[in-house]
Amino acid sequence: MLEKIHQTADFLKAALPELPETGIILGSGLGDLVNDIEIVKEIAYADIPNFPLSTVEGHSGKLIFGYLAGKYVVAMQGRFHYYEGYDMKQVTFPVRVMKELGVNTLFVSNAAGGMNKEFKVGDVMVITDHINLFPENPLRGKNYDELGTRFPSMTEAYSGALIELADKIAGEQGIRLMHGVYVGTQGPTFETPAEYEYFRVIGGDAVGMSTVPEVIVANHAGMRVFGLSVITDLGGKDIKEVPTHEEVQKAAMNAQPVMTRLIKAMLPLI
Ligand code: HPA
Repeated sequence: MLEKIHQTADFLKAALPELPETGIILGSGLGDLVNDIEIVKEIAYADIPNFPLSTVEGHSGKLIFGYLAGKYVVAMQGRFHYYEGYDMKQVTFPVRVMKELGVNTLFVSNAAGGMNKEFKVGDVMVITDHINLFPENPLRGKNYDELGTRFPSMTEAYSGALIELADKIAGEQGIRLMHGVYVGTQGPTFETPAEYEYFRVIGGDAVGMSTVPEVIVANHAGMRVFGLSVITDLGGKDIKEVPTHEEVQKAAMNAQPVMTRLIKAMLPLI
């Protein structure tokens, strides 16, 4: 694994005039942010050694290097989901590579179903914490000390300072910004009403099929993490409608401008 990470990072370093310190992983239907990037270099996953290929509908699968709100960033357009069949090491491989390039702050976004009764479709939620309900932890197996410690702390998996900054900006700009705990599940099924209820009862505010593996690895690697969920549907025992993938994509599209505005306002200040 170490060799692969180095090989991929070396390939990218050779292709890049400048290395990023900030990484962004964009969730399903949330790729619009890249339209605001002043692109320096764009590389399709298919052309990057050791990178898995992105398969899910709505993902175009490339790494984008460039300036966003004046900050040089690397953005992943399209991520690898566990439900697609990738193993946890593949899902989190790009985070390892980002770290090797020098990334120390990671922004993640996703589309999620809301269980919190205060939430509305289209809300943007700052992830304050997560509950890992994936069947596996990405750190399972041999630990490489050069990548991180065997038993990493998860007490501040999402940076308190970045959450505070987001709140400050949201206050100034009149953005309705919710806070909540993200429950990560393997999917690909959406939840039954009873499952949404169960996730709410154990302390979850939103549920989705991504993010947790990448955030665990980012923490292992010593990165600061900031996460946003766009609430694309609501679930619970009183809500019987099952979201379709298309509805989720559409709701994510509609909520994008707020998410983009917030991230762009944060970047120059981190
Ligand atoms: N459940 C799981 N993943 C999701 C949902 C949901 O309700 N909405 C968007 N992604």
